[in-house]
Amino acid sequence: MKFLLKLLINLGLSGYLAQQLARPNGFFGSRFIGRMMNKGNAELEQLALQSAEIQTTNHVLEIGFGNGQLLKQLCDLITTGKVYGADISPDLIHQVNKRLSSSIESNKLELHLSEVSRLPFPDNSFNTIITNNTIYFWPTPDQDAQELLRILKPNGKLIIGFRTADDMKNYPFVTENLHIFQNHFTTQGVEELLVQAGFSNVSFKGVKSDLAISHVAICTKK
Ligand SMILES: C[S@@+](CC[C@H](N)C(=O)[O-])C[C@H]1O[C@@H](n2cnc3c(N)ncnc32)[C@H](O)[C@@H]1O
Repeated sequence: MKFLLKLLINLGLSGYLAQQLARPNGFFGSRFIGRMMNKGNAELEQLALQSAEIQTTNHVLEIGFGNGQLLKQLCDLITTGKVYGADISPDLIHQVNKRLSSSIESNKLELHLSEVSRLPFPDNSFNTIITNNTIYFWPTPDQDAQELLRILKPNGKLIIGFRTADDMKNYPFVTENLHIFQNHFTTQGVEELLVQAGFSNVSFKGVKSDLAISHVAICTKK
């Protein structure tokens, strides 16, 4: 996988790679990019999952689920609750629909083609929302954070996994394509975003993953 990454960069395709990370599409996007993200983001995903402290009865939403690796783990954890996924990539929805078809058929998992800014869920729907490596692509971060607050239940938990602007510098294809990775945050910036949106009890954890430290922001809705 690292070889493929280097090859794409050497071929001058770093813009294509960045575009695929923002919205994977086609066979290459849904298969190879998904697998690449799984490897690079495994530690972050585990930290996000531990921080979420999921109960078997919870209703949990993941936004920007890539090829569905975390959704699969959530489906294994939940018994009487339910797992939801929302993503803007039709090709990923198609792929994960196939991969996790048994959970979809048993009504444990529901997938939605939708944008973080306009999520098709009523107010106060979820005990937990997890979103990893999507904050860079949110179209309107202030409003999007408020949209997450709207659909979280009181006392519900939001987990945002991300790399800071400084850590992003370790990924040359990111710095060369800043227009695609449009939002760059420090942990303080993420804290301000969440507090201004109305979240409480914001805290952070970090883990060394791939080329950089990954962070999770953990916060609750009063
Ligand atoms: C870099 S990938 C991260 C995938 C996975 N969460 C991980 O950390 O490995 C970004 C994911 O977010 C989705 N995405 C990007 N912008 C989005 C938006 N505005 N609303 C919802 N999903 C979005 C992409 O389609 C993709 O699945």
